[in-house]
Amino acid sequence: MSGQFSGVIDLKKMDESRQGEALVKDAPDKANGKKFYMESYGCAMNFSDSEIVASVLLDNGFSTTNEFINADLILINTCSIRENAEQRVRARLQQFSATKKQRPGTIIGVLGCMAERLKKKLLDEEKLVDIVVGPDAYRTLPDLIQEAQGGQKAVNVLLSREETYADINPVRLGGNGITAFISIMRGCDNMCTFCVVPFTRGRERSRDARSIVEEARMLFEQGYREVTLLGQNVDSYKWVHEGTEETVTFAKLMEMVAQVNTDLRIRFSTSHPKDMTDEVLHTMAKYENICNYIHLPVQSGNSRILEMMNRGYTREWYMKRIDRIREIIPDCGISTDIITGFCSEAEEEHQETVDMMKYVQYDFAYMFKYSERPNTAAERKYEDDIPEEVKSRRLQEIVDLQREHGALQNQKDVGKTFKVLIEGVSKKSEDQLYGRNDQNKVIVFPKEKYNKGDYVQVKVESCTSGTLIGKAI
Ligand code: SAH
Ligand code: SF4
Ligand code: F3S
Repeated sequence: MSGQFSGVIDLKKMDESRQGEALVKDAPDKANGKKFYMESYGCAMNFSDSEIVASVLLDNGFSTTNEFINADLILINTCSIRENAEQRVRARLQQFSATKKQRPGTIIGVLGCMAERLKKKLLDEEKLVDIVVGPDAYRTLPDLIQEAQGGQKAVNVLLSREETYADINPVRLGGNGITAFISIMRGCDNMCTFCVVPFTRGRERSRDARSIVEEARMLFEQGYREVTLLGQNVDSYKWVHEGTEETVTFAKLMEMVAQVNTDLRIRFSTSHPKDMTDEVLHTMAKYENICNYIHLPVQSGNSRILEMMNRGYTREWYMKRIDRIREIIPDCGISTDIITGFCSEAEEEHQETVDMMKYVQYDFAYMFKYSERPNTAAERKYEDDIPEEVKSRRLQEIVDLQREHGALQNQKDVGKTFKVLIEGVSKKSEDQLYGRNDQNKVIVFPKEKYNKGDYVQVKVESCTSGTLIGKAI
């Protein structure tokens, strides 16, 4: 997919629908005549970072193009989370390299998590790459580009304990003009044993709460009606106001953003089961404009595996968090991430994951086979000993079960009426609009007199396994 959004985009489905999306924007006033092309892979955080990178480049006189063959600068914002994420990027780099052979002056830059993980090694492995920039070094891009233009290879992969890009106003590119991301923190201190993120993104740090509220306010004034607060572990957001010594927790921050305007919807991702407080749940319940939807990755339903993963909670603890969500926010949508075939996972332990799914009945789940990542604790301490075919079979089992649950959950919504924020025209028909309800489910309905950005009450009349179909009332 390149250029602009052209359909139903689900934040947590970036893995499928937005991978490789290109960013385009009109030329600025102080143009330097150079065009850049940028593609993004990985999580919402990476897409949000691309908006910061675009801002830095536009401020330095670059303009954008949606054809990489026309670009003076080709950037690829990369992901390292699983091996196949990296393979995908390498394949794409091969295609870019062919262009470079035709147009020798073209500069190719690798940004993001793969840049950080591989550092200089990336230059040896991918000979045609000119620039390697880690997630905390985007301010230095203009200098690095200059170095590369001078014929040198340029690398900056320094991680920072402070950088939050709080003062950089992200350029919203390729979006629908209605929903936007706001990064509220960077990095991760959790050290789940399977995960590269603490290595690629560095230490956890929270952004100045005032700049977050300001960004939300500006977005609302520009016509945006939904913001998603982003962090690898939003529940550990913590910012201390230097003058007043007041501590802003995630619950408090959410409240501050919710108060920007009752017509601005708030979503957030990702919550961590070990850190999600009742205070957060009560704040969600208190504000109508904070969406009743929580993405709460479980990873495994078995306590021994959770311990090996260093997730910081047990099966029972997780189930209690789910009970608490249902108690405080009875209509809350819940989704999860699951890894199958983690080191030494026995068949009964996999069954406990299956049972967990039956217990929770997730609305959505993002499911992965364990992929061993270099230098993680799991790689050093445990053997990646579950055969590929067992991993695949276990994955298929949970994917099938989730499909059943998703369909069942959708069936339960037939006959109900939801408040929907309209995000655009349906991909399948010009006469249909689509939007999402509080629980993050996509609802399609006839256009009639309604427009993008409107809130409408939609009564669900039928459903497919992935979509609710209704009519505005
Ligand atoms: N910060 C978020 C997750 C970020 S990564 C959290 O803690 O939930 C998104 C998902 O990718 C993870 O939830 C996990 O399910 C999956 N993932 C991470 N590392 C992986 C690996 N090595 N192999 C397979 N899946 C992995
Ligand atoms: Fe990775 Fe765990 Fe941090 Fe999520 S919380 S980013 S899985 S280390
Ligand atoms: Fe990938 Fe980095 Fe996000 S590894 S999932 S892009 S934080």
